[in-house]
Amino acid sequence: MREKLLEIENQAVVELTGVGSEVDLQQIKARFLGRKGEITTIMKGMGQLTAEERPLVGALANQVKERLELLFADRLEALRAELQERQLKSERIDFTLPGRSQRSGHKHPITLVTEEIVAIFAAMGFGVAEGPEVEKDFYNFEALNIPKDHPARDMQDTFYIDDDIVLRTHTSPVQVRTMLGQQPPVRVIAPGTVYRRDSDLTHSPMFHQVEGFLVDRQVTFGDLKGVLTTFINEFFGKELGVRFRPSFFPFTEPSAEVDIQCVICGGGGCRVCKQSGWLEILGSGMIDPEVFKSVGYDPEVYSGFAFGMGIERIAMLRYGVNDLRLFYENDLRFLRQF
Ligand code: DAH
Repeated sequence: MREKLLEIENQAVVELTGVGSEVDLQQIKARFLGRKGEITTIMKGMGQLTAEERPLVGALANQVKERLELLFADRLEALRAELQERQLKSERIDFTLPGRSQRSGHKHPITLVTEEIVAIFAAMGFGVAEGPEVEKDFYNFEALNIPKDHPARDMQDTFYIDDDIVLRTHTSPVQVRTMLGQQPPVRVIAPGTVYRRDSDLTHSPMFHQVEGFLVDRQVTFGDLKGVLTTFINEFFGKELGVRFRPSFFPFTEPSAEVDIQCVICGGGGCRVCKQSGWLEILGSGMIDPEVFKSVGYDPEVYSGFAFGMGIERIAMLRYGVNDLRLFYENDLRFLRQF
């Protein structure tokens, strides 16, 4: 029995050394130390031993049992440590990698510039108005002193829906709609989308304008100059030169185009200003008495000024963008810069 016990111990030690997982270990442990295990079986058989042998074999059995229990515990601990080591190696996390952040969107540069322009005029007391993009010929042309077959219609290449309905070619029809709806004094700024049959580096068939106008008693060209100069100073910065250049629009008389000193070269002459040192940024003038007549204002009592500017053009100058189409391509690498 004594030999048997030592044999069992040896056998257990061999199996323990080769075991690779906790599950296998528990099985081996049950086979040797469990209630039906080999050592238990021997202890149960001790009744057959003589009175002298019994305590000696019993003591040995207990020793073997204790030694094996210790060995199992050690092995278990070692197995668990190995497993953890393996997991730590295979699941290594590199904390220095950049995270996957969720970028939030923001307003389009055209929207940003529009809001900025509107805010400057709002601070001067102008209210905001809007009109439809699909517009009647009357509002887009007729009431603005551009009758059918008038050569001035060629100034704006128009998308016609039918004989009487167009995609508005400018925001000026909002002047007509506003004046038909209310009596002077009026001070309105009207941003919006406009359409023309035109497409190249600097023209898009869809673009944006801001219209502004003011009507009251005794409004003069000096008021026009003051308001527009204030706007330009606010928007582009005070050091910039401004010039009012005679021009023609059917709905204003006299008319002026407004230039600013080239923001790219500072006035010395460059490609953007075509060597002139000046950049045209808006059209303006004193509202033509013919327009007042079509909306029922008395031109003997009231006078006013109006102006209109292309937002894309102003945004290009503001941000130094040289291709208009960038605004419409939705390339995030471009848009994220604003
Ligand atoms: N409507 C003109 C255009 O689209 C711009 C313009 C010029 C508007 C003079 C005005 C103005 O109100 O007075 O080219």
